Amino acid sequence: MSDPTRFKRFTVTSALPYANGPIHIGHLAGVYVPADIYVRFLRMNEADVIFIGGSDEHGVPITIKALHQGVTPQDIVDQYHTIIKKSFEEFGISFDIYSRTSNRVHHETASAFFRKLFDAGQFIEKVSQQYYDESTDHFLADRYIMGTCPHCGYDKAYGDQCEKCGTSLNATDLIQPRSMLSGNQPVLRDTRHWFLPLDQYEPWLREWILEGHKDDWKSNVYGQCKSWIDQGLQPRAVTRDLDWGVKVPVEGAEGKVLYVWFDAPIGYISATRELTPDWEKYWKDPETKLVHFIGKDNIVFHCIIFPSMLRAEGSYILPDNVPANEFLNLEGEKISTSRNWAVWLHEYLADFPGKQDVLRYVLTSAAPETKDNDFTWKDFQARNNSELVAILGNFINRTVVLTHKYFQGRVPEAGEFNHSDHAALEEMGRFPEKIANSLNNYRFREGLAEMMNLARLGNKYLTDNEPWKQFATNPERVGTVLNLSLQICAQLSIVGEPFLPFSMDKVRQILNFPRSTWKDAALLNWLQPGHQLNPPELLFEKIEDSAIDYQVNKLLATKAANEAAQQKKPVKPGKTAVQYEDFSKMDIRAGVILEAEKVPKTDKLLKLKIDTGLDQRTVVSGIAGFFNPAEIIGRRVCILVNLEPRKLKGIESQGMILMAENPDGSLCFVTPDKEAVNGADIK
Ligand code: 2FM
Ligand code: ZN
Repeated sequence: MSDPTRFKRFTVTSALPYANGPIHIGHLAGVYVPADIYVRFLRMNEADVIFIGGSDEHGVPITIKALHQGVTPQDIVDQYHTIIKKSFEEFGISFDIYSRTSNRVHHETASAFFRKLFDAGQFIEKVSQQYYDESTDHFLADRYIMGTCPHCGYDKAYGDQCEKCGTSLNATDLIQPRSMLSGNQPVLRDTRHWFLPLDQYEPWLREWILEGHKDDWKSNVYGQCKSWIDQGLQPRAVTRDLDWGVKVPVEGAEGKVLYVWFDAPIGYISATRELTPDWEKYWKDPETKLVHFIGKDNIVFHCIIFPSMLRAEGSYILPDNVPANEFLNLEGEKISTSRNWAVWLHEYLADFPGKQDVLRYVLTSAAPETKDNDFTWKDFQARNNSELVAILGNFINRTVVLTHKYFQGRVPEAGEFNHSDHAALEEMGRFPEKIANSLNNYRFREGLAEMMNLARLGNKYLTDNEPWKQFATNPERVGTVLNLSLQICAQLSIVGEPFLPFSMDKVRQILNFPRSTWKDAALLNWLQPGHQLNPPELLFEKIEDSAIDYQVNKLLATKAANEAAQQKKPVKPGKTAVQYEDFSKMDIRAGVILEAEKVPKTDKLLKLKIDTGLDQRTVVSGIAGFFNPAEIIGRRVCILVNLEPRKLKGIESQGMILMAENPDGSLCFVTPDKEAVNGADIK
């Protein structure tokens, strides 16, 4: 195990969430709650620690979302960065800075980082073939391309990954690739990119991870690294043909940006620069311990690629540990942003005001530390009602209420200790170290369980000694029992702080007791006789079935909506933005169909005569599969009149009528409003 006292300071990072959706409980359980517990614990140890967070604002999912919504990527990230930042603040994730990768400091930092590696000859420059959409003039990076996964046959696999079977893919692996921009089949074209030669780092990675961190990295993390390294590492492209991201800072790289996974982890460094002018000591001094909190899908980037980048740069420290968690499922199913299968943090905060600690507690108790785990609303209710309310809240409340009842809320004198008092004191003495040991080794569930064992000890001590039965006959004994119980409350307020900061604030307020350091947790006499307590206040309240039913019903509604959506074919993806000038070249008019007849020897074509307001002209249209000629005479249409005439089956077609095509391929007319006269200009 790495010895925490070996370090002078700590840099703790938490994965930068993509700013294309809000935060959900999977993010919280996997990354932010454990990171926050760790950092609060370090701060209580008076460590010099910085806790870094921020939004990851580049990458193709963001540009695709912008495209679908007809807004800019900046609009998307502005919207979600604001929601994410606010919900973290309300939830008490105690970042020292929550930054974002679209800001200037980050662009400068990432750009300089790339440039330094470029100048030092650390990249390989390669021309390779990439898919290109000829109809929109775009290279199709990562998720701009979809197709069938060669491993599992899933027909919506992306160019970089199949979300069904989890395999990481190259776009050229896809069967029947199609462009997300136009739906068309793309072609392969040459393009030049820069690659980090990961293969060259393999011997070093073997030594650093497989030998150096065999014993202190979690087995899920170590296992994934080993499997990547054993499969053989390949050079990895660190640039992309895209126009959203950090521009590649070398000549001849117009239209190229850094790969999002190259720039995002540098975001941790940029945020530190933004936080303090003294940032270098947090990144370059070997006496700084660097810890990355992430989910399992980020392991390769934080354990292999980012460390290789840092090593190539040469002046940075490497992570001491990467305590990645597995995934949290929701009611037995994988959490999914796109299917809205999630408990969203901002909605939780609105539905359960003041109950931040309940969620922190449940997510830590059920944290997916060694394997995937499941969140259910029933379990949430049970843990609140039978653990937080019945054990922790009940103990503190009983102790404070009895002290008010028998001693006017003043801490009583302790008399002679008997065997049961000594036993309780001895047990209490062991908790701070046990919990510290769990937290230093990233075993947050275990630490929390120990904290609850301290509350259980308090409850048992109180129940065994029954002060409420003895006051009339032995007030001195009652004083001793309550004095000791109050010391347990004080100890709980210290060791419970990293896990349940809101509630422990309340406990300190009730006990009228200042914030303490972790060292103080080992003292056993925090509250002196005569010390005045404040009135009792309930720490936790029962969660009723109705609140749980409401949440379960919300999920059932989501499930029904998803099932209905699956029956429907999806609408075609949006196209890239065009200038108004491009659109204004189209001369579209309101018109009416005067005549219609089938084109002989074809199934699809109708020959139409249309009054365009300018003239009467012939148009050949591929709508015969959907309409009878007789039915459409007199229909009002929109017609593109300046389309180059072309011959179809020997008939010159002088324009095109506009039709709406449904996802199932059926066609409908686009009809101008009745007030539009023939020849009205459509723009
Ligand atoms: O998986 C994700 O959500 C990524 N946005 C995490 C990035 S972590 C870091 F490298 F910034
Ligand atoms: Zn697959």
